Amino acid sequence: MAGTKMTSPLLLLLLITLMSIASSVLAARELAGEEAAMQARHEEWMATHGRKYKDDAEKARRFQVFKANSQLVDRSNADGNKKYRLAINKFADLTSEEFAATHTGFTPAPPGAKMLPGFKYENVSLSAEDEQGLDWRTRGAVTGVKNQQPQCGCCWAFSAAAAVEGIHQITTGQLVSLSEQQLLDCTTDHNNGCGGGVMNSAFQYIADNGGITTENAYPYVAVQGMCDSDGKQPAATINSFQAVPANDEDALAAAVANQPVSVGIDGQDQSFQLYRSGIMTADACGTDMNHAVTLVGYGVQQDGTSYWLLKNSWGETWGEGGYMKLERGTGACGVAMQASYPVA
Ligand SMILES: *[C@@H]1O[C@H](CO)[C@@H](O)[C@H](O)[C@H]1NC(C)=O
Repeated sequence: MAGTKMTSPLLLLLLITLMSIASSVLAARELAGEEAAMQARHEEWMATHGRKYKDDAEKARRFQVFKANSQLVDRSNADGNKKYRLAINKFADLTSEEFAATHTGFTPAPPGAKMLPGFKYENVSLSAEDEQGLDWRTRGAVTGVKNQQPQCGCCWAFSAAAAVEGIHQITTGQLVSLSEQQLLDCTTDHNNGCGGGVMNSAFQYIADNGGITTENAYPYVAVQGMCDSDGKQPAATINSFQAVPANDEDALAAAVANQPVSVGIDGQDQSFQLYRSGIMTADACGTDMNHAVTLVGYGVQQDGTSYWLLKNSWGETWGEGGYMKLERGTGACGVAMQASYPVA
């Protein structure tokens, strides 16, 4: 009896020790399994996107970023309350800082640009039909989605060109793809080229120059060069440009109901970078003006959520075919802070 009394606590201790070793081995194996699965996911992603790294150190560093982004995407997509979905897209191995440095490029100009004073749509009230939604794509005022390329932060040129393409089609009936490269090379004020710029300066250039030529006549090469506009036929002209009163989304809707509008936006948060579909909401981004896009419509989703339809310049494989729906009425991503449009 005495012997049994002595051994059973020892046996218990032994059992507990063995169990805890076994469970930590299992946990470690599970962790290793997850890591291996993530590595496989990275390899597959690299193959899909044709990504190659210069050495193993770079690959290991990129893997860590890919892993963090993938975990963020998985977590966000598992949250049933979110109105949008993210994707492990072509930008999934970039940190938000790296991404912003190479894919955005809006630098707000100091106030005092010599724009047309006032707001021409101040007395516009939307028709019942226009209140429901509007999409300038279906009205033929929007060209295909373009791609500023990873190495050039000239979103501002793409935003300005899209707004001018819009008003040109609305006033003339002709949809013409216009030259971002001309804006990148020739805009004189506040133009840091691929390092950033502002749409109002591009509008000013177009007005002063007597127009902007076509994409075909002056194609995009994603680096800034010497201005080469001599002898190139202007394909669209504008007289001036005007600002939408800041932080007024009703005023913004009145403007967008009449033409595509250029806006500065906070496009550097990871949810923006990795956006796939649905309505991006204000909780997912800040309000630092670092990117520029073009609003080409708005609408109301079945659940009653209002949104802006924005055209981006990151190619068709980002978002909904190159577009994003962005919550309307909450100042999401700073969408109404700096909006302006060309006046034909
Ligand atoms: C808007 O209406 C007011 C009052 O009638 C008028 O003074 C103003 O000029 C109008 N604005 C525009 C842009 O037409």
